[in-house]
Amino acid sequence: THCILIGCPVDEGQRRAGCLMGPAAYRVAGLARTLTELGHTVEDRGDVIPAAGRGQTCDNPAVHHLPEVIAWTEALSASASAAMPDGVPIFMGGDHSLSLGTVAGVAAHAQAEGRPLFVIWLDAHSDFHTVRTTTSGNLHGTPMAYAAGRAGFEPFPPFPAPVPGQNICMFGIRSVDPAEHAALEETRITVNDMRVLDEHGIAAPLRAFLDRVRAENGLLHVSLDVDFLDPSIAPAVGTTVPGGTTFREAHLVCELLHESGLMTSLDLVELNPFLDDRGRTAKLMVDLVGSLMGRKVFDRPTRSF
Ligand code: ARG
Ligand code: MN
Ligand code: MN
Ligand code: MN
Repeated sequence: THCILIGCPVDEGQRRAGCLMGPAAYRVAGLARTLTELGHTVEDRGDVIPAAGRGQTCDNPAVHHLPEVIAWTEALSASASAAMPDGVPIFMGGDHSLSLGTVAGVAAHAQAEGRPLFVIWLDAHSDFHTVRTTTSGNLHGTPMAYAAGRAGFEPFPPFPAPVPGQNICMFGIRSVDPAEHAALEETRITVNDMRVLDEHGIAAPLRAFLDRVRAENGLLHVSLDVDFLDPSIAPAVGTTVPGGTTFREAHLVCELLHESGLMTSLDLVELNPFLDDRGRTAKLMVDLVGSLMGRKVFDRPTRSF
C-alpha cells in the first residue's frame, strides 16, 4: 500500500491547546518507519496550512473559532480529495474538527468514483452536534453530523455527498449529549456503545458492518479518536472518559480492519502530546496503525474452535 501522511495540526476545534503538536509527535514516535517496516511505501506530504479565517459568524454565541475551523475544513477537504487517487491517506491530527474536512474530501472523491462511502467512528463521543446545537461551542463535537448531512451547519460549505446513516457505524461510544442523542434516534446510524461491546464483544458487530461495506464495494473511512481508548492506557487527550477500550480490544479492531482489506483512508485525532506521559499515547497510536496496516503475531487465517 502507498501510505500518504498528511499533518493536520488543528487546535481550534476545542479549548485545550496542544493537539497542534500531534503531527510532530506521530513523526517522532516513528509512524513512517512502522509503515515502511511492514512493507508499505510512505510519502509524507507535510502539514496542511489553512488560509486565513474570513470572519464568518453564526447565531450560536457558544461557538468559537468558526472562521478558522471553516478555513481548515476547506484546506483539508482539498488535501483529502487530492490524496485519495494516489494511495491511503493517514491524517495526523489535530483535534477531531479536522474530520469536517477530511471526510468531506473523501466523500467528494467517492462520489466522483461512483462508489458509496462508509464511515467507522472509533470514539467515546458521537460528535453529532451541529453548529446550532453545540453547547460547549467546541466544533470537534460536530464532524459526524456534518458528514451525515445534518442541517444547521451554515456558514460551512454544504457537505459534498452526505453519508447515509446506514453507512455509518460507531464503536466505543460512552458520552452523548441530549441533543446528539435525540438527533441520532432519527437516523439509521449504528451506535455500538459500550453496552453493546460488553455484551457481544467488538468482533461480531464490526464483522457485520464490514460485510456490508464489501457487499456494496464501498470506500471505508476510519476515524480513530484517542479517547476511544481507556484513559489508563492513553492519557494524552483533553476529553478523557472512563471505561474505554482496552489495549487488546483496540488491537483486535485494527487487525480485523486490516484483514478486511477495506480501509481506504484514516484519521488519527485528538492526540494532545502536551498531556502525554513520555510519549506512551503517541507510541500506542502508532502501534495501532501498525496493526491496521498488517502487523500480526502469526500470519494465518483465523480458525474456528
Ligand atoms: N459532546 C461534547 C461536546 O460537544 C464532547 C465532544 C468531544 N469530541 C471529541 N472529538 N473529543 O463538547
Ligand atoms: Mn485560540
Ligand atoms: Mn471525537
Ligand atoms: Mn472523543
